[in-house]
Amino acid sequence: MADPAPILPYEAIGGAPAVSAIVSRFYALMDEETDYAPLRAMHAADLGPVAEGLEQFLTAWLGGPSQAWMARNACVMSLHRGLAVTPAIAGQWVQAMARAVAAQPGIDPRLGEAMVARLAQMAHAMISRPASQPAPDML
Ligand code: HEM
Repeated sequence: MADPAPILPYEAIGGAPAVSAIVSRFYALMDEETDYAPLRAMHAADLGPVAEGLEQFLTAWLGGPSQAWMARNACVMSLHRGLAVTPAIAGQWVQAMARAVAAQPGIDPRLGEAMVARLAQMAHAMISRPASQPAPDML
């Protein structure tokens, strides 16, 4: 008998409602917490479009429907190439994402941590400026 189809991370975390809730929480934290003010300052006043983009990316990246992200024909690393990302700012991104994922009910903590660890690797690769202050210890 064939092995059952593997469960995708997208399904395991709770599908579209979970991705949407994580993205909303992530940008709310970025918007409201003074610790993330340098990261927030890099973004436009209206976080709606960027939230939609991150939701599309995470959906595809986790193994969910990928059409919306693929239709953009965008590379997530290239999108950040022009930004002045210091280690501290990358750390703020990862810390806010870790908090947004950890607060999502029903996610196996091992899966949540693995997900954030891989995103942290990408955030680390986006650093384009030397450290000017210590980074949160999540990178
Ligand atoms: C390293 C720290 C990061 C900083 C400072 C940062 C900053 C930004 C900024 C300023 C934008 C808006 C760009 C624009 O509108 O032109 C953006 C968009 C975006 N970021 Fe990041 N980002 C970081 C890390 C990440 C990571 C690790 C991911 C995912 C792996 C990610 C995924 C995205 C996506 C999907 C968009 C939306 C693009 C769009 O809708 O066109 N970012 N980011």
